[in-house]
Amino acid sequence: MTNTVVIGSQWGDEGKAKITDILAGDSDFIIRYQGGCNAGHTVVANDITYKFHLVPSGILYDKKICMIGAGTVIYPDAFKAEIDELKSQGVNLSGLKIHPLASITMPYHIEIDGYQENTAKKGKIGTTKKGIGPTYTDKSARIGLKIQDLYNLETLSEKLDIILPIKNKMLAKVYGLEEYSKECVIELCKKYAEIFAPYVCFDWQKLLEEHKNNKILFEGAQGVMLDIDWGTYPFVTSSNPIGGGAAVGSGFGPKMIDEVIGVAKAYVTRVGEGPFVTELKDELGSKIQQIGHEFGVTTGRARRCGWFDAVTMKYAVQVGGVTKVALTKLDVFDSFDEIKVCTAYKNIKTGEITEYYPTDVFTHKDYEPVYETMQGWKQDITGIKDYNNLPENTKKYIARLEELIGAPVSIVSVGPDRLQTIFR
Ligand code: GDP
Ligand code: IMO
Ligand code: MG
Repeated sequence: MTNTVVIGSQWGDEGKAKITDILAGDSDFIIRYQGGCNAGHTVVANDITYKFHLVPSGILYDKKICMIGAGTVIYPDAFKAEIDELKSQGVNLSGLKIHPLASITMPYHIEIDGYQENTAKKGKIGTTKKGIGPTYTDKSARIGLKIQDLYNLETLSEKLDIILPIKNKMLAKVYGLEEYSKECVIELCKKYAEIFAPYVCFDWQKLLEEHKNNKILFEGAQGVMLDIDWGTYPFVTSSNPIGGGAAVGSGFGPKMIDEVIGVAKAYVTRVGEGPFVTELKDELGSKIQQIGHEFGVTTGRARRCGWFDAVTMKYAVQVGGVTKVALTKLDVFDSFDEIKVCTAYKNIKTGEITEYYPTDVFTHKDYEPVYETMQGWKQDITGIKDYNNLPENTKKYIARLEELIGAPVSIVSVGPDRLQTIFR
């Protein structure tokens, strides 16, 4: 039995949800371990498109436990909107559980995120404005609220006496935003308690114990290059999408993890600000964007597109702990004559060539990609089910990527549908 973590190995939106959904079919317990409703996860199954933000992408199967883990942050209104939408699509949510130690995104976190993004003259991150950074900030500063706080009004009241004076001072003095009265926050919390009540799993210790010999699937959000410690800091999210984040945010220890599947697109996309060495700002970039429908699930923003960057991917394999790769969106190249792969970075000031990712992202403007050109396959691959039937040039492309990044590609995705997936 293999317990697997699914992570993004680029800057998010690699197709993690599609891979999680497929692997979930064969798992017992699916746990989302970090991030919040900044994530936008798409699964296409039986001709229906499902969009998830917080709910694990394994929820489409009956009789599985799908837990939103302790390492996540949850905005109650977003959660409510998501489950309402899923219910309207007929999704059975009986297996959905929320860990009582998950953090709550409060409306003031969203206001602060929006304020910071809208007023930044320099250093704009291009966040999703979902309050993610401010929620994790409060968690680390030990002035956050957890789901379990909603069910004990006495301790909630004591906590708010500590939290609100600090928050209100910041809201008013630093951001010029409205303060929150204690009565107002308690009313909000009562509403939140009702929203979460059917799902909060107070007996999670028993549940995890019972499942320790079952098959666990850990679902990451975002991607390694957005990791707060290992990504393109400060142009990152505020949690740990790397494979190791699964142990931190789930309550299952690191020894429970057997494989880490790093999901990667056959090219690279990025939403928001920050360096992107292989970005294509020309019509080729627009071509990838159009064919790949590269527009965000959560914010609708156009995703920046570029060639596959083996330098960052090799780094992501290393720090993300990736043991196998799921390569998605290969079909987007079906009409391309040539495909480029970035094999190294060249420093335009010194001429130095490196295959190792430079961690000071403010130096990335000094690097240009060193490309290798590969021949396209000029064939529709979206219906291919067997790896051996892929065109020779597709197989050559995959083999070259494997060589460059030092990890095997074990899953190949040739379309958004569950069925458009090839296992090796
Ligand atoms: P996630 O955040 O990593 O789960 O990815 P998103 O759902 O944000 O974005 C991936 C998009 O690509 C979704 O619209 C998927 O339906 C789609 N997709 C996934 N795999 C493939 C693939 O192999 N080919 C194509 N054409 N689309 C894919
Ligand atoms: P999934 O799980 C792509 C990006 C934002 C911004 C940075 C910080 O669908 O892959 P945040 O709101 O987290 O403080 O924003 O991170 N970002 C994502 N980009 N996919 C995501 O999630 C993302 N979640 C956050 O665009 O650059
Ligand atoms: Mg996404």
